[in-house]
Amino acid sequence: MTEIPSTIVTVNAVAELRAHLDAHRGAGRTVGLVPTMGFLHDGHGSLMRRAAVENDVVVATIFVNPLQFAPDEDLDSYPRDLKRDTVLAEEAGANYLFVPTREEMYPFEPVLTTVRVGTLSDLWEAGTRPTHFSGVATVVTKLFAIGGECKAYFGEKDFQQLAIVTRLAADLSLPVTVVGCPIVREPDGLAMSSRNTYLTGDHRTAAAVLRQALDVGEAAIAAGERDPQIVMAEMAAIVEDEPLAELDYVAAVDAATLEMPPVLAGEIRLLIAAQVGRPRLIDNCGVTIT
Ligand code: PAJ
Repeated sequence: MTEIPSTIVTVNAVAELRAHLDAHRGAGRTVGLVPTMGFLHDGHGSLMRRAAVENDVVVATIFVNPLQFAPDEDLDSYPRDLKRDTVLAEEAGANYLFVPTREEMYPFEPVLTTVRVGTLSDLWEAGTRPTHFSGVATVVTKLFAIGGECKAYFGEKDFQQLAIVTRLAADLSLPVTVVGCPIVREPDGLAMSSRNTYLTGDHRTAAAVLRQALDVGEAAIAAGERDPQIVMAEMAAIVEDEPLAELDYVAAVDAATLEMPPVLAGEIRLLIAAQVGRPRLIDNCGVTIT
């Protein structure tokens, strides 16, 4: 009978990971899956810790997925540090670290079979990143196919991604329960992100403006505002006051459909995206209107 390894085991091959996980499931163990692109921080760590509480075996994956980067984006310079990531993943409770090569994930390129999650992929982030979500949906479908029956942990930090991944697992009847986890933030409110490493000096300070704008939106709703346009204008004004930040979009949307309702009601999500120096940052928060 396969034992749970006492130290984290790095696996590069699909067949090897499948063999480990099939053996664990055969022994009656549950599997938690945490897909990442590496350069791990405590946001990733929080997903792994949750997976370790809720499952017998935890697999973290690290793959900088070329399909979700546009040609002008940072695929080649995306930060990488496998040694540090291995330590962090082990400390957070991962038993396996799946680190496939590009050839292992995409044996035939160009990839001909891709996954597109309909209208959910055409909203907010798609405005500046039109091909991004088909890349995400395709790689996540592959990771679900490789990982098999499991619970899979995703951050609310990427709220549209979480909605897309949840929907694709349901639409394709994959044996995966998607679990959304809260956003982990720096002390000044900046949502943790691997791309925060691109922020230096004044830009790092200015980056807290995203959380400040979300706070203003939340406060407006708490004060009784129900017109999404007015809430959005108040949020946008905060970002426009910060010379180092360039607003991409703000939105007050229905948390299930990600569409903007005429009147705010029920479960609402405030979304924001802005360029702050080199990185484009995204953030969001939930508001319940009773
Ligand atoms: P990556 O940006 O590495 O994020 C991996 C997971 O960590 C995602 O589910 C993301 O939402 C979550 N995460 C990131 N920052 C977080 C934070 N501050 N708090 C909580 N969770 C956070 O998202 C991706 O990679 C990729 O698109 C991927 C799903 C792996 C597909 O390639």
